[in-house]
Amino acid sequence: MSEDLSIHKGTKAEQYQSLIPQIRALIEGEPDLVANLANITGAIKEQFGWFWVGFYLVKGDQLVLAPFQGPVACTRINKGRGVCGSSWAKAETLIVPDVEKFPGHITCSSLSRSEIVVPLIKNGEVWGVLDVDSEYLDSFDETDKEYLEKIVAEIVF
Ligand code: SME
Repeated sequence: MSEDLSIHKGTKAEQYQSLIPQIRALIEGEPDLVANLANITGAIKEQFGWFWVGFYLVKGDQLVLAPFQGPVACTRINKGRGVCGSSWAKAETLIVPDVEKFPGHITCSSLSRSEIVVPLIKNGEVWGVLDVDSEYLDSFDETDKEYLEKIVAEIVF
């Protein structure tokens, strides 16, 4: 396929509806996990322009930084720590409208104001998380949860 992403304007749901088939086409038939995670972060960042979009993968008892788009970030996060470690521990998506109000939030960048973290789950086990950060308060809602969960469901691991 062409490597150009077609950027869609419209409601947030419409933007995701245009993006998801393109992500599917980008990763379909490609067995390399890092390549696919990298392209997914690029596609989400290009469509929405969020401040930071990236993956952390479970390695032993920590999350370790994986492909991302945005400023440099914390490399390792312990289980239960911060939004990412809490999403891992709870095996559920966490929407944080104001990171300053989330106890234990890990500040990788002082510019990040709100965040959503979606766990990657296989056979009931969390094997990583997708973290999306915004420099604006209250950027994420149930629409992001619904569609970002659909996006991570496309990843074959
Ligand atoms: N804020 C996250 C850490 C990861 S960075 O924002 C990229 C957290 O509290 O888990």
